Amino acid sequence: MNKSFILSTGSYLPKRILSNNDVASIVETSDEWIRQRTGITQRHIADKEELTSDLAVNAARDAIEKAKILVNEIDLIIVATTTPDKTLPSCATIVQSRLKCRNAFAFDVQAACSGFIYAITVADSLIKANNSIKYALVIGAEIMSRIVDWKDRSTCVLFGDGAGAIVIKSVHCSEAVKKSINGGIVSTNLYSDGNIDILCTNGGVSSTGNPGKICMKGREIFKHAVDKLTASVEKALKFNNLEITDIDWLTPHQANIRIVEAVMKKLDLPIEKVINTVDQHANTSAASIPLALDHAIQKSKIKPGSLGLLIAIGAGLTWGSVLLRY
Ligand code: ACO
Repeated sequence: MNKSFILSTGSYLPKRILSNNDVASIVETSDEWIRQRTGITQRHIADKEELTSDLAVNAARDAIEKAKILVNEIDLIIVATTTPDKTLPSCATIVQSRLKCRNAFAFDVQAACSGFIYAITVADSLIKANNSIKYALVIGAEIMSRIVDWKDRSTCVLFGDGAGAIVIKSVHCSEAVKKSINGGIVSTNLYSDGNIDILCTNGGVSSTGNPGKICMKGREIFKHAVDKLTASVEKALKFNNLEITDIDWLTPHQANIRIVEAVMKKLDLPIEKVINTVDQHANTSAASIPLALDHAIQKSKIKPGSLGLLIAIGAGLTWGSVLLRY
């Protein structure tokens, strides 16, 4: 039996920072409106020459260095992204080529803002099913600024660019340890409902031949996000016979601080237990959870041995949770 343990985390943010005041010089908005409605103060924006794979490779190098492993020891690479460099090959194989991970197999996962939760779940499932995977590299990387309509103030203020990565180690253990909450990834739960029109792009490869721009019914998304994120925590707790008081930390998808606050209130979870980076990064879609995770671990907000949850929701609608002991 194998169990997945997070060995290290890494991140990369493009150098250019776009403040709320900078955005106010592009569309009619204000720092005050953006802060009050979203909690966002700034976002990082990739240079024209930078590609999603560049961000992914930098985050991966950071995680691999901290894991103190060799690139040849990596057996699996998954990149969660909605904004790949090319239609083919996958971003994951481009990362594999750049890192020279000759022994890995690599592929992308697309589940919008839930992408990282889906990617961890796939990596964990492959590790449990396959004794030959020792280390897996799971990355969330996005250049959302390329699919944002910079004329639409209701969406362009919300997004940013970045990448986060984790190295997962497969550890052989007994059936009892595998089922316990004592270490590593304890459980994963994924959901989707086919509600495809409230958040989508107005283009794509087989429709318009270009990726299109983001269109969103913000209020509807807000409501779904609060309900579904709350439910995903409750289901993960119930599935593992846990109470909310057993949870040491929660790393939610970083979309809007008001969504997170509403979820915390419903769950009766103190806001101090919540990792918040939306103010600095805005919504980086599949990159948001690994970026927040790396930040929290570097700042010792997530300590070894603590029990926590990752939760996300995104277009599709897709959502889910990962319960893990770090
Ligand atoms: N600056 C100033 N005014 C604005 C802006 C802006 N950037 N955007 C909208 N407004 C105006 C609207 O035009 C509207 O004006 P009106 O009353 O004169 O018609 C007013 O502000 C209120 O607009 P609402 O859309 O009702 O504002 P709301 O309080 O719902 O906040 C927001 C909008 C921030 C988008 C919110 O609905 C939200 O966060 N929804 C979730 C969306 C989300 O997170 N999407 C990310 C992808 S999905 C995910 O990651 C979960």
